[in-house]
Amino acid sequence: MKGKDIQYVCSQCGRAESKWLGRCPDCGSWNTFEEEAAKAEVTGKRAVISTEDRPITLEAVQVDPLFRFETGISELDRVLGGGVMKGSSILLGGEPGIGKSTLMLQVLAESAKGRSVLYVSGEESPSQVKLRAQRLSLDLGRIDIFCDTRSEVLVKLLENSFYEVVVIDSLQTLGSEEIPSPAGSVNQIRFCSTMLVGLCKQKGISLFLVGHVTKEGTLAGPKVIEHLVDTVLYFEQVNSGIRLIRAAKNRYGSVDEIGIFTMGEKGLKAVTNPASFFISERGDGPLPPGIAFSAVLEGSRSFLVEIQALTTPAKGGYSRIYSDRIDSARVTRVAAILERHAGLRLGEQDIYVNVGGGIKLSEVSIELPLALALWSALTNRSLPNNMASFGELSLAGEVRTVSFSEKRQKAAKDLGFGKILLPKMTAKSGLVQYPAQSIKEALEICQRLS
Ligand code: TYD
Ligand code: MG
Repeated sequence: MKGKDIQYVCSQCGRAESKWLGRCPDCGSWNTFEEEAAKAEVTGKRAVISTEDRPITLEAVQVDPLFRFETGISELDRVLGGGVMKGSSILLGGEPGIGKSTLMLQVLAESAKGRSVLYVSGEESPSQVKLRAQRLSLDLGRIDIFCDTRSEVLVKLLENSFYEVVVIDSLQTLGSEEIPSPAGSVNQIRFCSTMLVGLCKQKGISLFLVGHVTKEGTLAGPKVIEHLVDTVLYFEQVNSGIRLIRAAKNRYGSVDEIGIFTMGEKGLKAVTNPASFFISERGDGPLPPGIAFSAVLEGSRSFLVEIQALTTPAKGGYSRIYSDRIDSARVTRVAAILERHAGLRLGEQDIYVNVGGGIKLSEVSIELPLALALWSALTNRSLPNNMASFGELSLAGEVRTVSFSEKRQKAAKDLGFGKILLPKMTAKSGLVQYPAQSIKEALEICQRLS
């Protein structure tokens, strides 16, 4: 292969370049560019989604009534948008050890109640898988296992059998004889996945593809096949006990829902009521300065989180913001609003922001509680320990209404928060309310209360 036939693809994020680069301009990884045959050659068989060569009316389209089934793992079903679509392909990415294989076995065991299921293992031997399934007390008689990583063999097997749910663990072990590069390379991953996703769509098999994500950049990441599959899920660990599943792409549902699990003796356990999950246990005394509670919404559920801020005088006259759970651009903006509209001198401070439990927050409603936490940290005054807040801040310093106000207030009330600081337009019934029109007014209320 020469010239136009070759491109270089970052194995971490999938960026393609015409020449080799030492460092990926997109994701910043080093030495991750791999030579790849230009796309046309490696895409393999395309997914078959035909209307038999002629256009038909939407009315004439036949819809299989059993097109979606629940896996029985409620947190996963919700993230998927109500269960697994027949013939859909789902990529499950995550770091090694996070629990991908465990979850997949649990999903298969549940799906097997009424369906034929297959676990394809390229990483662990049949006996290892059996021991794990035994430990999880799963019904071993219903789950078939097949240990082979040659994609041609897998295709033949799936073509000649009647499995309805198939897990391939993992992507990175797959290989095809047609591709000269080693298993785990971008070429192999793309080629084999395309072939398997296409076949499963054609046969109505629901396919789970497990993919490792590594920080070191030694394996091609699942990102290179995100465009091929219907749904992309990422498993992340927010602190030692809690694991979250988020959808990065979902053709059959929203990407707003998160699934929350804990890992225990018997595998992953769904956390169905996460309302207080991210709040630290504390006694009745005053809160430490810098802590504010927020009622946030993830998908359809509201829960309480703890926002922590710390300010210290900047060294060398140059202040910085350290925040990886809340976008630092948002922290900068909220700090500027506080500076301009409430006279807080944050410009000379280094600002550290964290979220209890380590969960990432991207909702606008956290702007008011974030501002309160920064105020509390800077002035060294505690906020009331039974007060939660929510609201968006405008650049003019106003506290703006956010969606699902009632739901947020209910979540706060259910957890024993008696006070709520919220946008003036929203204030209605229930708790002792402190409506505020501007950030200045909000801080005056806090000053009175603290
Ligand atoms: P695993 O599913 O193998 O992770 P991955 O496939 O993502 O690499 O399991 C990860 C960890 O979970 C492993 O360190 C052992 C632990 N674990 C439990 O705590 N309880 C269990 O019931 C099982 C099966 C595993
Ligand atoms: Mg595994």
